[in-house]
Amino acid sequence: MQEKKTFYITTPIYYPSDNLHIGHAYTTVAADAMARFKRMTGYDVWFLTGSDEHGQKIERSAQEKGQSPRAYVDKIVAGFQHLWRSLNISNDDFIRTTEERHKRAVQKIFQKLYNQGDIYKASYEGWYCTPCETFWTEGRLVDGNCPDCGRPVELLREESYFFKMSKYADRMLKYIEENPDFILPASRRNEMMSFIKSGLEDLCISRTTFDWGIPVPFDPKHVIYVWVDALTNYISALGYGGEDDSLYRKYWPADVHLVGKDIVRFHTIIWPIILMAAGLPLPKQVVGHGWLLLESGKMSKSKGNVVDPLVLIDKYGVDAIRYYLLRELPFGADGYYSEEALVHRINQDLANDFGNLFNRTCAMANKYFGGRLEAPGEPEGPDAELLELVQSTPGKVEELMNRREISNAVAAVIRLAGRANKYLEETAPWALAKDPAKRGRLNTVLYNVAETLRFATVLISPFMPGLPERAWPLLGLEERPDLHTWESLRWGGLPAGTVLKKGKPLFPRIDPATLGEG
Ligand code: MSP
Repeated sequence: MQEKKTFYITTPIYYPSDNLHIGHAYTTVAADAMARFKRMTGYDVWFLTGSDEHGQKIERSAQEKGQSPRAYVDKIVAGFQHLWRSLNISNDDFIRTTEERHKRAVQKIFQKLYNQGDIYKASYEGWYCTPCETFWTEGRLVDGNCPDCGRPVELLREESYFFKMSKYADRMLKYIEENPDFILPASRRNEMMSFIKSGLEDLCISRTTFDWGIPVPFDPKHVIYVWVDALTNYISALGYGGEDDSLYRKYWPADVHLVGKDIVRFHTIIWPIILMAAGLPLPKQVVGHGWLLLESGKMSKSKGNVVDPLVLIDKYGVDAIRYYLLRELPFGADGYYSEEALVHRINQDLANDFGNLFNRTCAMANKYFGGRLEAPGEPEGPDAELLELVQSTPGKVEELMNRREISNAVAAVIRLAGRANKYLEETAPWALAKDPAKRGRLNTVLYNVAETLRFATVLISPFMPGLPERAWPLLGLEERPDLHTWESLRWGGLPAGTVLKKGKPLFPRIDPATLGEG
């Protein structure tokens, strides 16, 4: 048997400095949709997420709560895992940077780079932003503050280990130039190229001012600075540096590192240079998505405007929340979150278009045929256009997903429902039903719409994985894994004699007047 092609996709590993909000949920849901889509199209997928647990900020947060860092992160990380289960995330592994398998890999890389002369010790003075855990040179500060988050920085001086990033700048730039799809979208790619051209400095990669981290193997006074520690998760989780590295050999290099725009630089410059220096293959692609913003600005605990995904799941259901997130953020750009927009999306796309098409079709099939649909007759009138759209949609969705344009891919699926609703207007089954001679045509029309719904259900499943098991019974089908496979997307797959059922609406319309309640 031919081996399946592999596909390795990762999310960033999240800081357990606080509970996760809807913005973080976006990253993981988007990666999950890509992972599920690839599985559906026949790939052997490995999907990784995890937690980034070391560093001064975490150490301080734990102290403030009077807890040990370990007890503190354990509790928050359990919350992450609960959230991912609630969001139906299909990750194959969860890496914690406090695990032994991770520590071993990080120390191995550090030692290797040191042995070959790419890491050296020097005294360092710089402007440090504690929240971002980043050193800045004077020149990069904006009005004397951190250029990333705008908060005050402090002048620190210490002995540190440095990584000779500058040595690899030209090779890195060349790699980006020669691999146009390495960084998506193109706007981020351009930003990164100018960043390298403006000159790369060597990177401070150890600290002595806190302990909560992985010690430098040959100088344990130092702990390894967060980014080297964090980025290595993508290979430590595959067993790199351990006794069994079969996953590493199978899945590395990663096909996609999905990250927010704020950390594209770490993933497209620092991480590949570390790998380059260590003689390891570079990831194939880094996708930088936009941010989910609030009208009142960035979501932050201190502003008290954090949106808790668990609350929304409770209120609207996990599929609707996933749908909203995936549909709302255009590829690479920012989007604004509001509950009004969420309710509008659910009502418009899911209740009016998608859910309503199910309702109408099942209701008519029951009214005219007791639910039972036979094989369709020859296409006529508007059939050809509907069939053409339905049959070309899987290819279109696949192409969009391969370009990582998730929102457009989701829209292409919902468009099927929109088109089929229009088809019902064009063919007017209620009029056909009045003429006994047109029963055959009436059956064909309803079959065509039911078959469109079957396609739409299969295609929407990576985005709303809970939907198919609710939708199949309406189409007279019983949930089976082979129902939602790529191979099932052949016109005519809905068996003749299937009995459509009337059921509760898949997505009940939400009364906007109830907003803010609950
Ligand atoms: N620990 C680092 C990542 C290390 S990866 C080797 C980190 N953690 S984080 O918890 O601060 O952020 C994780 C991800 O969540 C980032 O990709 C970030 O862009 C994303 N988001 C945080 N807030 C967000 C929004 N409001 N909207 C969309 N994504 C957001 O950075």
